[in-house]
Order: sequence, then structure tokens, then C-alpha cells
Amino acid sequence: MLSTPHMGDWELEFVKEAFATNWIAPVGPHVDAFETEFCQLVGTSHSAAVSSGTAALHLALRLIGIQAGDEVFCSTLTFIASATPITFLGAKPVFIDSDRISWNLDPELLSTALAQRAKIGKLPKAVLLVHLYGQSADIDPILAACDRYEIPLVEDAAEALGATYKGQNPGTFGRVGIYSFNGNKIITTSGGGMLVSDDSELVSQARFLATQARDPAPHYQHSQIGYNYRLSNVLAGIGRGQLRVLAERVAARRRNFEIYQQTLGDLPGIEFMPEASFGKATRWLTCLTIDPEKFGTDREQVRLALAAQNIETRPVWKPLHLQPVFADCEYIGGKVAEGLFQDGLCLPSGSNLSDADLKRVIQAIKRVNAVKT
Ligand SMILES: Cc1ncc(COP(=O)(O)O)c(C=O)c1O
Repeated sequence: MLSTPHMGDWELEFVKEAFATNWIAPVGPHVDAFETEFCQLVGTSHSAAVSSGTAALHLALRLIGIQAGDEVFCSTLTFIASATPITFLGAKPVFIDSDRISWNLDPELLSTALAQRAKIGKLPKAVLLVHLYGQSADIDPILAACDRYEIPLVEDAAEALGATYKGQNPGTFGRVGIYSFNGNKIITTSGGGMLVSDDSELVSQARFLATQARDPAPHYQHSQIGYNYRLSNVLAGIGRGQLRVLAERVAARRRNFEIYQQTLGDLPGIEFMPEASFGKATRWLTCLTIDPEKFGTDREQVRLALAAQNIETRPVWKPLHLQPVFADCEYIGGKVAEGLFQDGLCLPSGSNLSDADLKRVIQAIKRVNAVKT
């Protein structure tokens, strides 16, 4: 498997505590403590624990005022959940290509695109920046471009908890950021997400909307449409335990990467996802590209050969501007993300992989190369 849950020593204790105190609800002491501990860990002032990263992004976009008909600039190389919340609100994504140093949104492309849009008076209502595969995008120039036109930056750090950008956590730079605790993430609550912001009013509004927008009244009264998006107290207990082992999980995933790189890095045509000098990546997933000319076979043949040996790998995300569902959306950029999709492969990367597991994957890849060259 690509990335499986990896529990530590504390999760079950916190879950037992939730049972013992009968806080089996989308509210309770673990939810509060999870939020506080999360803020301390990533260095933000306020957070709201919710049922998924997608829910957090939906709330984030709604709270910065995205409405039907608006445009939101969004990284193209990402999972669909980065962009679906834009469409939940009736707004439209405009997709932007990646750079080669981080595989994330290209700051120069963004800056040029915003300048052009400013000229014709058609600026987007927000920029949604994704930090992919455990690596931060180059935030400073992106933030500067947004600030120039007073456009709010929303950060999708679903895959980048534990990474740094110039020493600070991606997800905490923009107006609002989100994280995911889905089962495949670096730490998990089985399902869950977090919205963070230094704006206390925005986060308290997020909590309000996440609990069906219930007005303060003894009866049930509602003046706005809300959602049922709060995180369960039981799952928040798992999250508290997982926060305690995050640093270990990052170290384990970086070690996987190093072993893959040391053993496969010299094969012809293989290039690993670079680590940009501005930050530290978690290597949530170890990703590489395979040049078919040099390697002797293409990425898909490698994937199928590994699948035949029961080893799960995945192509790098298919860029969203190539997804049929977004066929009518504008795209700004060239072929960087497209090339990464065509040649890119994500290897088994869980923090609980054994050395024997790693060896099996490495030998399987070497065998494909030996047969084909
Ligand atoms: C980049 C990205 N954004 C958003 C999400 C959505 O998070 P969730 O699955 O918790 O809804 C995910 C992962 O699933 C993701 O990888």
C-alpha cells in the first residue's frame, strides 16, 4: 500500500478516555485540546477541527467570501478535492501550472497572470495554493503577488503537515489554511481536517457554519445555511495521539526517501522529486519521474510490473485542467504538470514500511530496468 495509517502509543488511551467520559459527539474536550495542540504545533493562533480537509476548504472559501460566478486561481497539479470546494460555491477554478523546483504552483506564472488580469479588470477572488506531496510551494513570491492586488491566499496544506517553508509551516502564511487527516496522510484521524487562521472571527465563523449555523437561542434557529462538518471527539482523541508522533513520522518518511534515492537514484532516466532549497519536505510520498527513453520502459509499464507483484504505486496526480469534469475551465501554463503526470510515479511511502518492504519495492524496480535495458 502507498501510505497506511500508523498509530502511536497514545491514540487508544485518548479514545478510551472519550468512551469513559461518554464524549461520543462532534464536540468535547478532545476536540478543544486537539485544536489547541495543533495551533501550538504549526504556529497559528486559531483552528477549527472538522470532518475532512475538503470540508475545511469549503468553509475557508465560503468565509473569505467566494460566491457563485467568482473565479479562483488554483494549482493544477493536485487531487480533485483542492478544487471541488470552489465548485460547491458555484465559483470557477482557473488552473495554474507547476514549477520544476517544487512541483507546486509556479510563482512567475501567477505573477504574470495576475498582472494581465489586473489590466483587463478581471482579477480572481482568491488564489488557492496547494503544497503537494509533503513539500511547500515557494510562498513568498506567491504571497507578494496576491498582496499586490489584495487577493486573499488560501493554502491547501492537506499533504504538507510537518513540512517547512523558511522555517515556518506551510498552511500558516495565507488568510486561511487547511490540513487533512485522511487515512493516507502523514498523520490520520481516519478522516478529518483542520482549518487554521490568525483571524479569530473567521475561525469562530467556521465553527458556527460547521455546526449547522445555529443561532444563539434556546430553540433551533437559523439565519444562514450551514453544514454538519465538525470533527468527532473520538477522532480528535486519535488526532491528539498522532500529533505526538508527527516528528517521528516525518523522519521515517524522509528515511524511506533517502533509501529509495540511494538505491535507485543511479538508474538511467530516474529522477526524484526535488527538495526546494527554501524548505524541508516531509516526503509524505516518495515521487520520481521515469524518462522512458533512458529507462527503457515508461512509467505505466513500471507501475503494472509492480502491481503484478502486489506492490501498489500510483501515477503522480493527473493535472486538474486535464480532468474531463473541468474541461471548460481556463488553464494558464505549459506542460510542466502534464509531464510530471505522464512520467511521475509515487512509491510505497508509509512510515511503517519495514526495510524488507522497501527492499522488495527497490528490487522490483531494478528488475524492470534490467529486463528492459
Ligand atoms: C491536496 C489535497 N487537498 C485536499 C484533500 C482533501 O482532504 P480530505 O480527504 O480530508 O477531504 C486531499 C486529500 O485527501 C489532498 O491530498
